Amino acid sequence: MAALRREYTARGLRKAGLEADPIQQFARWFHEAVDAEFADANSMSLATATTDGTPFVRTVLLKAFDERGFTFFTNYESAKGRQLAENPRAALLFFWAELERQVCIRGRVTKTSREESEAYFKSRPPGSRRGAWVSRQSEVVANRGVLEQRLDEISKQYGDDVPLPPYWGGFCVAPSEMEFWQGRPNRLHDRMLYTRQPDGSWQISRLAP
Ligand SMILES: Cc1cc2nc3c(=O)[nH]c(=O)nc-3n(C[C@H](O)[C@H](O)[C@H](O)COP(=O)(O)O)c2cc1C
Repeated sequence: MAALRREYTARGLRKAGLEADPIQQFARWFHEAVDAEFADANSMSLATATTDGTPFVRTVLLKAFDERGFTFFTNYESAKGRQLAENPRAALLFFWAELERQVCIRGRVTKTSREESEAYFKSRPPGSRRGAWVSRQSEVVANRGVLEQRLDEISKQYGDDVPLPPYWGGFCVAPSEMEFWQGRPNRLHDRMLYTRQPDGSWQISRLAP
């Protein structure tokens, strides 16, 4: 493991070259990651915590972002859904290794409107929509057969016309802080932190690597 290291030399990050709005800065980096055709450029780590402070982390897919925040979709009754109901704060992390870039986002979380969840759900292929009915996400299952049997039942019940389950939808993380990390030589990486101010503007600070 000690030998697994590399120098980050490709790019740099200067305050003067940053967008004033971190969502615009994210858009730039995200589109570069997409253009580079990375597998799952929109995958991100989502960290949540219970009220007693136990942290949990898992991967989800970013499905939308705009000035309101970063949206992913899931089962509201899953572990993450229950954690967000009791403690509606989350951290997101993107790591695009080939670009030597990381973005860390922290903020408050709200559910998307039923209409937004509906619109996204309808865009999913029927198999994925059936899966949302089959899986009581994060609960223990006796064996795989249980899931397959339930899939058969759901397929018979709905065919390809699968409605949005009442317990399924989006969460939107409204950022209060966003940090952009660019790898640099000698571990002197660039870290730029945007912090949201009470008037809605963003302050940018350089952090020590
Ligand atoms: C690449 C990848 C993408 C994923 N995308 C999602 C997603 O968008 N929504 C989701 O609920 N789970 C997604 N998962 C599964 C989650 O990582 C996790 O196993 C599941 O949501 C249950 O998490 P929880 O028990 O902490 O609630 C994804 C997993 C991987 C590896």
